[in-house]
Amino acid sequence: MKIAIASDHGGYQLKEEIKKYLEGRNIEVVDLGTNSEESVDYPIYGKACGEAVMSGKADRGIVCCGTGIGISIAANKVKGIRCALCTDVHMEMSRKHNDSNVLSLGGRTTPVDKALEIVGVWLDTEFEGGRHQRRVDMLNA
Ligand code: RB5
Repeated sequence: MKIAIASDHGGYQLKEEIKKYLEGRNIEVVDLGTNSEESVDYPIYGKACGEAVMSGKADRGIVCCGTGIGISIAANKVKGIRCALCTDVHMEMSRKHNDSNVLSLGGRTTPVDKALEIVGVWLDTEFEGGRHQRRVDMLNA
């Protein structure tokens, strides 16, 4: 699996932790920036991650900003992206029911250990399909 990852300055530290975690699991990472805590604009990074997933440069994506809100909105503007802002592991439902293809996390709102736990569960949870497929198809239509 290949994961595209992107953040603004508010999510930069968390992005770096997630990158280490993914590399520790031998998951290939496409890092789309940002590369420091210098202030940048989250719409650019959310869009870049969404486009990387939709173009096939990555299988799924992870985005981070201060709260995870702005960058999730930006990623969701890319047609075909289903970006889920998750704050606990029970939001694995975003994989099971919604087939989320991008995960969003808040670098200032979710502690690193909790965020990494969410990433692990999100990576390992499959879409259930069945009755949920029709609704996902409606999102894409
Ligand atoms: C940047 O200060 C902050 O607004 C951004 O990281 C994010 O939280 C937006 O939703």
